[in-house]
Amino acid sequence: MSSVLAAFEMAGLLTDLENGALTRATVKDRGSDQAALLGASLRYLIQRGLVEESGDAFTLTDYGRDVCQDKGYLVWLVGGYGEPLRRMDAFLSGDKRYGVDYPRDGRWVADGAAMLGRKDVVPHALRLLEGIEFDTALDLGCGNARFLLTVCSRFGAGGTGVDISPEAVVEAEKAVREAGLTDRVRVVRGDAGDLNSIAALADTQLVVTFFLLHEILAQGRDALVAYLSDMAGRLPDGARLLIAEVQPPAEGDHRPWFTPEFTFVHALMRQTLLDSKGWSEALADGGFTVREVLEDDMPGGILILAEKAR
Ligand SMILES: C[S@@+](CC[C@H](N)C(=O)[O-])C[C@H]1O[C@@H](n2cnc3c(N)ncnc32)[C@H](O)[C@@H]1O
Repeated sequence: MSSVLAAFEMAGLLTDLENGALTRATVKDRGSDQAALLGASLRYLIQRGLVEESGDAFTLTDYGRDVCQDKGYLVWLVGGYGEPLRRMDAFLSGDKRYGVDYPRDGRWVADGAAMLGRKDVVPHALRLLEGIEFDTALDLGCGNARFLLTVCSRFGAGGTGVDISPEAVVEAEKAVREAGLTDRVRVVRGDAGDLNSIAALADTQLVVTFFLLHEILAQGRDALVAYLSDMAGRLPDGARLLIAEVQPPAEGDHRPWFTPEFTFVHALMRQTLLDSKGWSEALADGGFTVREVLEDDMPGGILILAEKAR
């Protein structure tokens, strides 16, 4: 079911279902193979209680609407990590290695993260930002830049987004154009791990980094602290850092939703996660004073607002 729903979203069909724009006639209009598969998928979703036919249109049931609120998580997992998860056998048998073979799909990791973040993370993050002042924002691991664009529009700031994934950068540049903010938001493809290459840091009053720092942590806690110290040293006095991360499930807690999956796919990529205490201590050791820590609506999700220590 997750694969079918994620595929509908990725193919642009879920919006049609949400809006009642998918009708018997629009299904029939497609080529015969496509129409047959789409018809079979809709029948399957009807049998699963997610879709119903109302008049000529296919629409989501209440249950379907409820499930689709979390479509970002499905896209993130199925679209982003479907390929490496499918190839687990080759990783387990040692024939292939994650990263060299079968990497995740950057576009859908970024799009899924932005989709789930919009509902479960962004409202909390914006509330935190309302309490501070900044004219310039830098988003490290910006993905499709939706959050950077929201921040720059809402607070009138200029912004730079950096992402290593070419697919994510293409989506981000498109989003900047569509938002009409090319005059004050730019996106560059680059490695956020290489701070030397990010000249914008010297003039940045707010650094945002959502779901990226665990990539730096993959090189060890010392590397993370060195990275944060280097960043603090390059930022102007008073600069803020806002991070979003996901805490691993608490020891002995066997049934939390999503956090075991998040922890597992990161373990597949040889990455570990920290809890909020661990992140706060690493930030303090790296030259930042933690100002606020809050849990957002993402399972295990935390936001930490820190300031360059004086
Ligand atoms: C889970 S996504 C989150 C995207 C975005 N921050 C959001 O919250 O919607 C993580 C992003 O970090 C990017 N990324 C990973 N390693 C990176 C690196 N070393 N430098 C820059 N971007 C990186 C990935 O390409 C991906 O777009």
